[in-house]
Amino acid sequence: MTTMARTLDTQELEQRVKHMYQEVALQPDAEFHFETGRALAERLGYPSEDLDRLPAAAIESFAGVGHFLDLASIAPGETVLDLGSGSGMDTFLAGLASGPDGRVVGVDMTDEQLSKSERLAAEGNVGNVEFRRGYIEAPPVGAQGFDCVISNGVINLSPDKPAVFAAVARALRPGGRLALADIVTKDELPEGVACDASLWAACIGGAMQRDGYREAIEGAGLQIEEWRENSEYRFVSERADNAVRKYGVTSISLLARRP
Ligand SMILES: C[S@@+](CC[C@H](N)C(=O)[O-])C[C@H]1O[C@@H](n2cnc3c(N)ncnc32)[C@H](O)[C@@H]1O
Repeated sequence: MTTMARTLDTQELEQRVKHMYQEVALQPDAEFHFETGRALAERLGYPSEDLDRLPAAAIESFAGVGHFLDLASIAPGETVLDLGSGSGMDTFLAGLASGPDGRVVGVDMTDEQLSKSERLAAEGNVGNVEFRRGYIEAPPVGAQGFDCVISNGVINLSPDKPAVFAAVARALRPGGRLALADIVTKDELPEGVACDASLWAACIGGAMQRDGYREAIEGAGLQIEEWRENSEYRFVSERADNAVRKYGVTSISLLARRP
């Protein structure tokens, strides 16, 4: 099964997504269809005392859609994989939670996001976090190497969500967990929205109908334990907002476990 929209050109889509998040890394104050930065993070529920411990430049390029680290409850010494790590805000927070005996790997396909997060890790002398170039559908990590997989605002951007959840199940040790925030819809999106590469790159066009999203997670052998809607998240452009209202596009956070 693939969730790829029927007439979507996936190569064009990848270029559009990379271009969008290159801008988020390099020009975080530019106007996007979505919010970025510290005010967004705080509204979503990230404690300001945690944000105070991070490099400000990681927060300025934050483009996540919800808070989910309470669901992840990362303990000292744990191994964590961040799929679509962007400029690294969640990756660095996971690094603080897992501590010197833990290890966090962030994976992203956009060079500018990767160089920014790598630079910030080096400047901050963060020893337990590393970033790797790769795709979330086939992340460059071994099997069963992680206690927890996290992801924020990324899986909706993938044209093959079942492949992403299969990769999550492969990366997790038995008993390991997936905690994420993402965008889903109440109603199936019509082709006009789903095949619009610009709305896709803005985290709307690729959003999956929520029952199908749950089925894709369960189809990979993961059991969903918690699911909540994040009413604090909103899109900012009028075009995005229309689609949001019409098709019930919402942010959710969830916790799932590999039995
Ligand atoms: C909405 S941003 C979120 C970044 C980060 N998680 C955050 O909360 O700020 C999406 C990120 O996912 C990356 N991305 C999108 N699709 C990807 C894919 N198929 N494989 C790897 N990275 C991907 C983009 O490069 C971008 O950095």
